[in-house]
Amino acid sequence: MQSTLTTISDRLEIVTVPHTARTATFGEDVAAGLGAPEKHLSSKYFYDDLGSALFEAITHLPEYYLTRAETEILHESGWEIVRALEEPVEFLELGSGSAVKTRILIDEALRAQGTLRYSPIDISADALESSARSLVDAYPQLSIRGYAADYFDVLGSPELTHERRVLAMFMGSNIGNYDPVSADALLKKMAASLRPGDGLLIGADLKKDPGVLEAAYDDPTGVTAAFDKNVLARINRELGGTFDVRAFDHVAIYDEARGVVESYLESTRAQRVRVEALGLTVAFAAGERIHTESSYKFDRDSMAQMVEAAGFALAMTWTDAAERFGVHLCIKA
Ligand code: AVI
Repeated sequence: MQSTLTTISDRLEIVTVPHTARTATFGEDVAAGLGAPEKHLSSKYFYDDLGSALFEAITHLPEYYLTRAETEILHESGWEIVRALEEPVEFLELGSGSAVKTRILIDEALRAQGTLRYSPIDISADALESSARSLVDAYPQLSIRGYAADYFDVLGSPELTHERRVLAMFMGSNIGNYDPVSADALLKKMAASLRPGDGLLIGADLKKDPGVLEAAYDDPTGVTAAFDKNVLARINRELGGTFDVRAFDHVAIYDEARGVVESYLESTRAQRVRVEALGLTVAFAAGERIHTESSYKFDRDSMAQMVEAAGFALAMTWTDAAERFGVHLCIKA
């Protein structure tokens, strides 16, 4: 399959890049994950419409400081961030979503250099197009070439063109949801699609007190629990599952040695669950867990180590006043 280009206006075009490799379906991943000796489900399946709305609600929780802390950094230091490469830049953003936080950096870049080219990549074509349309409406000096695709497919594609020094962005602590091997592969792929001297801005949560982290991932109002359990409800909705969602508890544990919050759904009793579309019956022992998410935390050293292994040098780190979150500028070597 070929990439397709849709020109919406003289300042907005959207490229759809097809998948190069076949990826497993939801059903295949559920069958493999629930059939494994240590049961697991990928956190990428949290984000159907309900899950995305629940994640948006999480960002408003008092305990989930990450989004507010990153926003504070962009407000306080955005002017310095967009000038750090010392020449006019264009933005390339992985997983742009609604681009709310990106607007802070767009404002600063337009102040610094007058015009800006912005290339957001998002798997959701609808979310990409609606956020791109509102950005070009709001900013007459902004032009957008958006990519509706998987990051891996765009980063390896000749469709990804640059006109200026690139400031790539991977914000929102999204890097934390990749295990170290996958994070390394993604960062190497980014390094391969940038030129020496280009920048990569990574927003990542900092290591801290386990109590603070565990509260951020298991809030007392139960929004995070609902977000986690939605994956079981999604199996019921989409695959004919019979999960009694009330018979699972959300558990979040910070493993300090590995610097990661691990989330699980724990079966409150011995039970069997049928997943009709997969022809599968799964048995759970009382207390048995399904691993649903890893959220890795970093300090400056672990960030430097990770990005250096992928071909970047860590040039600069900005934090919020309470030092809970880090925005790291990495330069392609
Ligand atoms: C999207 N991602 C960075 C969030 C995180 O912090 O790992 C997802 C999340 N899981 C529970 N709360 C928020």
